[in-house]
Amino acid sequence: MNAIEAMKTRRSVRKFKPVEVPEHIIDTIIDAGLYAASGRNKQSTLIINVVDKDIQKMIREENRKIGGWEEGFDPFYGAPNMLIVLTDKTHPTAVYDGSLVMGNLMLAAHELGIGSCWIHRAKEEFDSAFGKKLLAALQIDGEWEGVGHCALGYAEEVPPAPKREPNRVFTA
Ligand SMILES: Cc1cc2nc3c(=O)[nH]c(=O)nc-3n(C[C@H](O)[C@H](O)[C@H](O)COP(=O)(O)O)c2cc1C
Repeated sequence: MNAIEAMKTRRSVRKFKPVEVPEHIIDTIIDAGLYAASGRNKQSTLIINVVDKDIQKMIREENRKIGGWEEGFDPFYGAPNMLIVLTDKTHPTAVYDGSLVMGNLMLAAHELGIGSCWIHRAKEEFDSAFGKKLLAALQIDGEWEGVGHCALGYAEEVPPAPKREPNRVFTA
């Protein structure tokens, strides 16, 4: 699959098989994330690979509460694997850099046959005591803003591409 094909065929997956993605594939996806462009090459983003199922459960629950969903709903749609992208708040291109990392993760996953979905509300999560406690437990110091979670797993169902909205390109 070439890059353009990957960009055009990647979809947000919201139905996953209950099968873990092998570690070496997750590592390859993470590595692709680390190669994203960054403002002034500061590379001031972090990726947390959440492998601990108890921590995953806490994050799903915190995200659900932030999103205001009813109890029992999993905003990660049962995805067995979970990455989180954070960015150094003090850097002027922080959120742009983090978003590019997210893009790389999703495209790399797709190229490797893994479904993904950007799961939001990482900012609220890591602005709160919940996220700060998690970072402290991982001995991550500094001022970090949550950019997004990347839910990963084998797709049970891949939705069709939403239609492209017209009138979005101009020539000057
Ligand atoms: C910044 C951002 C936040 C998103 N947050 C969520 C989310 O919290 N939950 C979700 O199911 N999808 C989320 N998505 C996925 C979008 O809904 C999805 O990209 C959009 O519907 C287009 O579908 P496609 O990715 O298949 O092209 C998010 C995407 C972006 C870029």
